[in-house]
Amino acid sequence: MRGRLPLAAAAFLLLAACRPDTRTPEERGRAAYASYNCRQCHRIGSEGGALGPDLTYVGFRKSEAFLDVWLKDPRGWQQSTQMPNFAYTEQSRKNLVAYLATLKGEAFAGAKPWDAVKGPEPRGAVLYDRLGCGTCHGKGGAGGFRNNNVPGGKIPALRETASTFTREELVRKIKHGVPKPQKADPAGPEPMLAMPAWGSVLTEEEIGALASYLLTLKPADDAGF
Ligand code: HEC
Ligand code: HEC
Repeated sequence: MRGRLPLAAAAFLLLAACRPDTRTPEERGRAAYASYNCRQCHRIGSEGGALGPDLTYVGFRKSEAFLDVWLKDPRGWQQSTQMPNFAYTEQSRKNLVAYLATLKGEAFAGAKPWDAVKGPEPRGAVLYDRLGCGTCHGKGGAGGFRNNNVPGGKIPALRETASTFTREELVRKIKHGVPKPQKADPAGPEPMLAMPAWGSVLTEEEIGALASYLLTLKPADDAGF
């Protein structure tokens, strides 16, 4: 009898290991998101911490190509970032990208965080935060975020829109986006980050609230001149 049980156990383990994983990459990415405890710093819907950006719309605002570059080496893209490099395996990084790419706002369905907020400017501020405008334009429109192959190397700040844009122009930009930002070197690669066309996921009223909020922003006091 001795020795037979371990053999049976080994056979069982071997079988379990060989059983194909039938989960989709998205499902495996969701499981990886939970096991790395990304929620410690990121919200999806109403769940999670707020040290990092809300990811409810991350698959709408960022391309899979960018998400892959970002997860591979956050500091390689944005030197100052607090986002850790988890040194994922190639496969789990790809699964995470597949999962993040599915996040296009559904987690807010029925409970939009700005719905309880009164007044266009305060609503616009919450929209700005929870849609992740700040992941490209900086907190409060302060700018400083990198883009590749664009003049100046940065995504524009939004603190001077009141003096450079009319309300109608702001509404138009937010609604239709800018699919192809101007390149610094015309022969160089396409910039990885582009202004999304938010008109496909927001109402006129929500876009109007965002414009109202942007018009309240002022250049930083410490600009030095
Ligand atoms: C210690 C906090 C922290 C943890 C844990 C963390 N992140 Fe982040 N993450 C950040 C911060 C902060 C940023 C914003 C970049 C910046 O401004 O520096 C960010 C940015 C991002 C972005 C890109 C920006 C965007 O458009 O939203 C993605 C995608 C992302 N994180 C995914 C993840 C995933 C997936 C995990 C888990 C594997 C994770 N993060 C864990 C802090 C964290
Ligand atoms: C993926 C990055 C990204 C996100 C997210 C993003 N933007 Fe932009 N946005 C850009 C880029 C890049 C430009 C510059 C486009 C160009 O080259 O003309 C821009 C331009 C703009 C402009 C015109 C200002 C100017 O100087 O050209 C406004 C207004 C604006 N964005 C508002 C918003 C708002 C509001 C949100 C959130 C609802 C948002 N953006 C989210 C990348 C982004």
